[in-house]
Amino acid sequence: MISLWVLHGPNLNMLGVREPDVYGTTSLVDLDAMLHSRGAAMGAEVTCLQSNHEGALVEWVHGAVAQGVSAIVINPAGLTHTSVSLRDALAIFQGVKIEVHLSNIWQREDFRARSLVAPVVDGVVAGLGTESYTLGLQAAVKLVRRRDGGHAT
Ligand code: DQA
Repeated sequence: MISLWVLHGPNLNMLGVREPDVYGTTSLVDLDAMLHSRGAAMGAEVTCLQSNHEGALVEWVHGAVAQGVSAIVINPAGLTHTSVSLRDALAIFQGVKIEVHLSNIWQREDFRARSLVAPVVDGVVAGLGTESYTLGLQAAVKLVRRRDGGHAT
């Protein structure tokens, strides 16, 4: 079984309520439930974690290293554009890493166009609403299987 962690950054606990025209109407609880079931269907055990605190996210990435997690799918939210610490933590994690965003960060304010995280991840999916997460999950599982030479169970 592939172990995959989905990390959600600040304010994503407010999904569904928060600027629904930008981020959609799906709640985080519903999104996480969907990711669990999609993951299970692909042979991945999905753990979803959300925090509004940079340090908590950094420590979860350290935990993923310690526990030998296969892949991280992360929406760093506002920390995407500001957090050297989260970027540095992700650089330590040697498993598969996919950055996701609900909105198209290159279509919005200038300050969102730069991701500090993007250079240390395998790929980025953005602008597709919750589909960014499901495609990110799919890509992560595929990359884990490819890296394991098809031997991951
Ligand atoms: C976001 C985009 C970020 O710029 C923003 O700060 C978020 C959410 C997205 O999913 O589109 O909180 O990461």
